[in-house]
This record gives sequence, structure tokens and C-alpha cells, in this order.
Amino acid sequence: MAARIIDGKALSAKVRSEIAERVRRLGSRGVTPGLAVVLVGENPASQIYVRNKAAACEAAGMLSRVIPMGADTAEDELLDVIDSLNNDPAIHGILVQLPLPGHIDTGLVIEAISPDKDVDGFHVSNAGLLMTGRPRFRPCTPYGVMTMLESEGVTLRGAEAVIVGASNIVGKPMAMLLLAAGATVTLCNSKTRDLGAQTRRADVLVVATGKPGIVTGEMVKPGAVVIDVGINRLPSGKLVGDVDFSSAAEVASAITPVPGGVGPMTIAMLLMNTLEAAERTPAI
Ligand code: GUN
Repeated sequence: MAARIIDGKALSAKVRSEIAERVRRLGSRGVTPGLAVVLVGENPASQIYVRNKAAACEAAGMLSRVIPMGADTAEDELLDVIDSLNNDPAIHGILVQLPLPGHIDTGLVIEAISPDKDVDGFHVSNAGLLMTGRPRFRPCTPYGVMTMLESEGVTLRGAEAVIVGASNIVGKPMAMLLLAAGATVTLCNSKTRDLGAQTRRADVLVVATGKPGIVTGEMVKPGAVVIDVGINRLPSGKLVGDVDFSSAAEVASAITPVPGGVGPMTIAMLLMNTLEAAERTPAI
């Protein structure tokens, strides 16, 4: 079987054009959604991500404000910046790019962001709302995966969903969203004893570990939908996911490529969260 390729780039473009239309409508109420992205230090990958987020924001007609801060920024200084963004009516969404330098307490910084502006959905109050089935912001990557599954018409009610990787950013919120959609969810982690035995049960398999090739075709159930969240650069410079694409595509019914799969959806859903935050602000 040759799997259908799920085109995240095309779906992201469609979602972003719908967002641009909603931004125009909001403009007639005098509101322009604004996203602030705080970047501490000079991590080259983070610099590229932040640039892409800002460009996508502007292309959708939103205001983007990038706040670069030095690698030696004191924690208090960063907390002051967050406090002023929390109180800035032009800013509806605040994102602090991770990872932060080691001397800064990431948890403390995330909890300092106003939960109403936490477009990453990482604040404990937003994680709690998601867990109890009343999401305010869905974390962008899992939200993008759900949008892809919906657009592909994948049945989640009663499906066996297996997630490989239990991070706070992807695996755990992904489990909550799939559970809310009626799937039976298995969340695997680095200690899982027989990973293949778990993944082979999956109708929907989501892989988010940062380990290239951790899932191969023989670990995929025939006809499964495979979502590869990983983005890894090999020593050769080639970008690959966590799934061995060619062997998995022989077995799956549908699969996301890397690049061009989940990645573009993450940015689209960040814009969606920022738009939704702005739409929730009361008219002046
Ligand atoms: N670094 C890698 N992924 C993310 C993300 O989704 N949000 C933030 N803030 N930082 C990240």
C-alpha cells in the first residue's frame, strides 16, 4: 500500500487565509490582533522559528512584535518585560521562545504570562482547563495535528490512538485532545518496554520524540494514519522526522512528510490562538 501524503503546507495556507479573513473582519471593530514573541539569547534554530512566526503574523494582517534579549538577561528583567506585555492592550498573545538559558526558571516565566494571553497554552491554568475538557488555548502543535486529522476525515471516536513522546509541549496535550475526541489513548515514553507492541495497535500514531527513525514501517499497523511531529537535522544536512518515512509509507494509509507536514501547521495554529485571544477582547 502506498500511503496518501498529508500536505501540511497546503492545509496551513488554507487555515492562514481563513485567519486573514477573520482578521479583516475584526479590523472593522477596530481591533488588530497582536502577538509578542520574546527571544532570549542567540540560539540559531530559535532565531529562525521566531522570524517565521513574525512573518506569518504580518502576512495574516496581524501586529507582530519581536523582543530580542541578550543571553545574559536576568530573570527579573524578563519578568518585567512579560509584566508590561500582560498590561499592553495592543498585545493579545505572548510567546516566550523555548528553550531559555539555564539560569532562567522556565516554569516561573511561563506562569508569569497572563493565562488570557498564553497563546502557547503552556500556563498551568491553561493545561488544567485542557485536562478538564474546557480548553482556552490548545498548544499549537497538537492543535495543528487535530486540524490535520479533521481535514483528512479521520474517525477518532473509538479509535486506538498511540502517542510516542510524553512532553508538556506535544505528547501530553495531544493525549488530552485525542481523548476529548473519543479516542482510546496510549501515551508512550522513553521507558516504554516494547514500543513496537504499542505502536502496532494504533489506528492513529503520533510520534514526537526528537529521535530520527524511532518508528519504522514494521512498527506501523497496516492502514494506520501516521503523524510525524519530529524535525531532525542529520549530519548530512538533510531534515528528517522521527518516523522512517519510506518504510512507514508502505504500510500506512496516510502519513505526514517532514518537512511540509506538522511544522507549517504549528505556526498556523499560533496565529489562530492569537486571533481567538483578540476576538475574546471586549469591544471598546
Ligand atoms: N520551542 C520549540 N517549540 C516551541 C513552542 O511551541 N513554543 C515555544 N514558546 N517555544 C518552543
